[in-house]
Amino acid sequence: MGTVVNAANKEGTESALSIKKPKVVFVLGGPGSGKGTQCANIVEHFGYTHLSAGDLLRAEIKSGSENGTMIQNMISEGIIVPAEVTIKLLEKAILGTKNDKFLIDGFPRNEENRAAFESLTGIVPEFVLFFDCSEEEMEKRLLSRNQGRVDDNIETIRKRFKVFVESSLAVIEYYDSKGKVKKIDAGKPVEEVFEAVKAIFTPVEDKA
Ligand code: ADP
Ligand code: C5P
Ligand code: MG
Repeated sequence: MGTVVNAANKEGTESALSIKKPKVVFVLGGPGSGKGTQCANIVEHFGYTHLSAGDLLRAEIKSGSENGTMIQNMISEGIIVPAEVTIKLLEKAILGTKNDKFLIDGFPRNEENRAAFESLTGIVPEFVLFFDCSEEEMEKRLLSRNQGRVDDNIETIRKRFKVFVESSLAVIEYYDSKGKVKKIDAGKPVEEVFEAVKAIFTPVEDKA
């Protein structure tokens, strides 16, 4: 994979992203909690650009990149791809978009993702939207998602839940300790979840 942007390097050169300084909201939650579904609603109503880390990784596989096989194997096992790979894809997408407001969905997924993004880009999220949903409900949704994903089978779904609990929850706890987490009950119907989401994105002056 070619280097597309100047990420901060060991000499301390400023990254292209730290110069663009986009406004970023991280959208986190277990697999099937409804991140992609609600991000589409947010884009429509609030003018953000949606970047799903999983979608970018799947596009990278399709593009025939030299990392494709490695990414494919990791996704099939529900494992988190090295931060460097995912961050390069996110940087390329952000820099290739005129908008300066981004929903980054499904990233950071572990402590390595979080720390590398922070140190390479210097970007601190405005806040973290956390979709809280039971495994029972997420399992039901994933098994009927029907998008032909190699990882939406019961064996891989269980592995993904384990990775979420063992690696991803720590990221949410980290941001919670900084007062940045806005938690949503994501077990409700789509419209009800979006009502709660809207309340978060609607500026205070518009709520009156
Ligand atoms: P994620 O991006 O968090 O993995 P998705 O948005 O792809 O989740 O949703 C997973 C599946 O569940 C999709 O088939 C979607 O249509 C469905 N879904 C999303 N939100 C809800 C909801 N609140 N209630 C029921 N089904 C939902
Ligand atoms: O978010 P999504 O469900 O689309 O992610 C699918 C898979 O993509 C994850 O299970 C993981 O293998 C990979 N992924 C990753 N790093 C991320 C996001 C997704 O490795 N930050
Ligand atoms: Mg998704």
